[in-house]
Amino acid sequence: MRSESLVSITDYTKEEILEVLESAKQFEENPNRKILEGKVVATLFFEPSTRTRLSFETAVTRLGGRIIGFSDASTTSSTKGETLKDTIKMVSNYVDLIIMRHYLDGAARYASEVSDKPIINAGDGANQHPSQTMLDLYSIYKTQGTLEGLNITLVGDLKYGRTVHSLIMAMSHFNPTFHFVAPDELKIPDDYKKFCDSKGIKYYEHTEFTQEVINNADIIYMTRVQRERFTDLMVYEKVKDVYVLKNSMLDNSKDNLRILHPLPRVNEIAYDVDENPKAYYFEQARNGVYARQAIICKVLGIKI
Ligand code: CP
Repeated sequence: MRSESLVSITDYTKEEILEVLESAKQFEENPNRKILEGKVVATLFFEPSTRTRLSFETAVTRLGGRIIGFSDASTTSSTKGETLKDTIKMVSNYVDLIIMRHYLDGAARYASEVSDKPIINAGDGANQHPSQTMLDLYSIYKTQGTLEGLNITLVGDLKYGRTVHSLIMAMSHFNPTFHFVAPDELKIPDDYKKFCDSKGIKYYEHTEFTQEVINNADIIYMTRVQRERFTDLMVYEKVKDVYVLKNSMLDNSKDNLRILHPLPRVNEIAYDVDENPKAYYFEQARNGVYARQAIICKVLGIKI
């Protein structure tokens, strides 16, 4: 792996994470800085995206860089049988940085091993989504005033949810207590429980999304049940609407509670929650531009 790539959130130390969050704050104060002038960035999306691709492209554009790439791999030579290796080697001839989303776990790590240019993982299968995690951390810090010692409740698809997997690893630096709320079919994988055990992090597993869990949370991180990850659609049909957060369920929640969601949502947050001041998911998505500006600068070794 080339050391400057960001493939997994574990590529960054706690200090590096805090450094990126500090940079994100500066970009929020002024996102328009022409520090990428003359740079070309590729966004290669082998899987659909709205927020990640558009916020990365906004981040680059506001920094004065240029974008090439694709949002639909069916228009590329991969449909003629070109391998990921060859695609990455070609694109790395053209650009200074590659931002890639792929449907296979481990694709970003592989790309970083064959590329001459740094790779930012914009999500690989059910594995990792480190730039989402950076904006999640930034959102948590902005709303709570700290990252330390928080009750973080993760709800929904904890098996396939790459945003959840990355967030657990990043929050492990900050002494959280996790509540994992998922049906048996979508339980948090054992690897992440072992990871928490190895770090001495407290966690509790629930199959019911109870009022007690809601009322004790500082952050509720809702997730979509991801139809595209299921091999058996009967199982998807069984669990797809298993938890729906409604506004009335927040009546006795903490004042500082914030509801996060990486989005897109399907049914898991009712629309009446949107008007509640504790709903933070749209602001969270906006924070993605600043967090991604900070990540791009770190990956390219640009001081702001
Ligand atoms: N949060 C997230 O990854 O959204 P997109 O799939 O729209 O990029």
